[in-house]
Amino acid sequence: MPAPIRSAVFPVAGRGTRFLPATKASPKEMMPVVDKPLIQYAVEEAVAAGATKLIFVTGSSKRAIEDHFDTDAELERALTESGKTDLLESIRNIVPQGVSCIYIRQGEPLGLGHAVLCARPAVGDEPFFVHLADDLIAGEPPCLKQMADDYQKHGGSIVAVEKVPHENTSSYGIVGLDDDGSQSQRIVSIVEKPQPEDAPSDQAVVGRYLLAPEIFNKLETTGRGAGGEIQLTDAIADLLLDHPVYAFAFKGDRYDCGSKLGYLQATVAYGLAHSEIGPAFRDYLSKLTNT
Ligand code: G1P
Repeated sequence: MPAPIRSAVFPVAGRGTRFLPATKASPKEMMPVVDKPLIQYAVEEAVAAGATKLIFVTGSSKRAIEDHFDTDAELERALTESGKTDLLESIRNIVPQGVSCIYIRQGEPLGLGHAVLCARPAVGDEPFFVHLADDLIAGEPPCLKQMADDYQKHGGSIVAVEKVPHENTSSYGIVGLDDDGSQSQRIVSIVEKPQPEDAPSDQAVVGRYLLAPEIFNKLETTGRGAGGEIQLTDAIADLLLDHPVYAFAFKGDRYDCGSKLGYLQATVAYGLAHSEIGPAFRDYLSKLTNT
């Protein structure tokens, strides 16, 4: 049986230009959906899948991410003194006992593949998760846990996929499949952001990967691809020539929080599901839509 996955890599160096001016001075990963920043949802998902080493590949103006996962003794003292125990609990143990955070600077923004390669010294020679916080997935069990369970069945590398409208293929990595109708299928080809006429299917890679360490050697020699960047997709295309890579159709709803519309949709969905404000928010929305 394959060993459990211990490391999760969070590439968080991107500038988030689609959300300017909101992201001028604060990281896009710190944008909240209701009351938690996107990067906290990401960390919670990785921890739920068994990760104990959280590796953030950061860039300039990302200090807020480090602060968020650090202990804030002064704030804890103030909340304790004012008896605000619920709020105190919400900021304590964001990173549970036994889980460590490692921060690595990417330096130059050379692309997702390059960001993953920067994590190599921290990951070592083991399989690992990659989580893109922009893609918020509501799933039970959480998406990475579904993938970790699938990995126990067949090992190899796994990327999460979802069907997208044919005209949107140029926004994603797109896989070609050895289609046997099962939830986890062997990938036979993968292309970064193909035009619809060149896309091998409508199955798009979403921001969850479980990768064998062999990907690092592939990334060492991956040249610049789509958008002039070193693409993780291109290294996976190389990997699948001599190593099994599976496409995993996860169960859950994905919200593209890298787009304004997707971010608002996530806010509505998570607002409606929220234990404290959900019912009042539902009332508000129904009044709004009935006028
Ligand atoms: C990245 C990947 C792409 C994947 C997408 C999922 O693209 O390069 O293959 O489909 O994430 O969100 P980006 O959205 O960073 O341009």
